Amino acid sequence: MERMTDLVVHDAAQIVTPTGSDDGSAPSHGELEVIENGAVAIEDGVVVAVGPTADVTRAHPPENAAESVDATGQTVLPGFVDPHTHAVFAGDRVDEFTAKLAGASYQDILEEGGGILRTVRATCDAERDELVANLLDQFDTMLAHGTTTVEVKSGYGLDVETELKLLEAIDEAADQHPIDVVPTFMGAHAVPEGADTEEYVDRVIEEQLPAVADAGLAEFCDVFCEAGVFSVPQSRRVLEAGQELGLTPKIHAEEFERLGGSQLAADCGAASADHLLQATDEDIEALGEAGVTPVLLPGTAFSLGAPYADAAAFEAADVPVALATDFNPNCFSQSMESVIELACNGMRMTPTAAIRGATATAARAVDRTDGTGTIREGAPGDLAIATVTNYQHIPYNFGVSNVQTVITDGTVVHR
Ligand code: NIG
Ligand code: FE
Repeated sequence: MERMTDLVVHDAAQIVTPTGSDDGSAPSHGELEVIENGAVAIEDGVVVAVGPTADVTRAHPPENAAESVDATGQTVLPGFVDPHTHAVFAGDRVDEFTAKLAGASYQDILEEGGGILRTVRATCDAERDELVANLLDQFDTMLAHGTTTVEVKSGYGLDVETELKLLEAIDEAADQHPIDVVPTFMGAHAVPEGADTEEYVDRVIEEQLPAVADAGLAEFCDVFCEAGVFSVPQSRRVLEAGQELGLTPKIHAEEFERLGGSQLAADCGAASADHLLQATDEDIEALGEAGVTPVLLPGTAFSLGAPYADAAAFEAADVPVALATDFNPNCFSQSMESVIELACNGMRMTPTAAIRGATATAARAVDRTDGTGTIREGAPGDLAIATVTNYQHIPYNFGVSNVQTVITDGTVVHR
């Protein structure tokens, strides 16, 4: 007996998928493959066929599928992967937004006990249920803009109880939502008020990391390696301690000052190095050689009014970049569509490079090697369908939501 197809998407103006593979040690430098008048079939949550509509629907007739989507005039992309967010927190910092527009700097605000530290106070006071509810709201918005996999960092606790509360909230929200969640521990996100940095690093290593690893609530360990926050040796201590407990390193590197976080990322085999506004050619080369995925966050530069990362330098060095929202109270956007627009219109990336950065290369930044971020046989059935006839229209038609239908594991979860 013929097996029931869960979902067939058919008659799409374009099916767009990164070619090559971003899994394993080598990132792909390929283009995007575009199938005109295409279709995708999904069974048991996994893509089983992709190609011209006539071919796919012969083997998988839409009328026999549990669900079908007529994508006439629309473009089907892999669901976006957002590999860098700080989405679990209480409150917002909209007043700091106004202060920054009037000239206050991010670091001045942090030094005065605002910024991250203010969100830490609000988050420590919040119940876990409130954090779960907030996070579910953020996931809804992300999903509506086409994100089907999202990394979420802790880091607004800065003590063992609250960091665990945040990772538990991430876990609980993940259970309740169709979006696929990648949890990261980031106890080394800031130095708590009044604390000595070196002593705090000891606490991260001796108290927080073992508790997090014991609870099995994180895959990655991240650190804010920055002047006035954690130095390179301190960051190294945290990342190596995490690695010993099975957490893969990630790092916030060369954002405001070039401290050497890229070289550290290369040395310790980090999955990604993120921000990189001040990265030099030497840093880019080190990341490329070590197979560390650079993650660029144009929304952060946009929110800070800072110059963007030098995407062209990565392109020139043939080191493909991932893109992420960095969603947090300082960079308040959940939308990978917006990030793609900023990547093109702000960083001058091509639509092809930006879509790859938001899909296959982003999956690589969170070690998803199962085909996440591509539409090919065996990949997860996660799709974003946009109301445009050509993928280049997504950044071209900026400031609107082009994504209309979102599918995770072969089920329509947003329309
Ligand atoms: O990636 N740089 C450190 N962490 C975040 C900002 C967090 C915040 O300001 O609350 C970032 O931009
Ligand atoms: Fe960040």
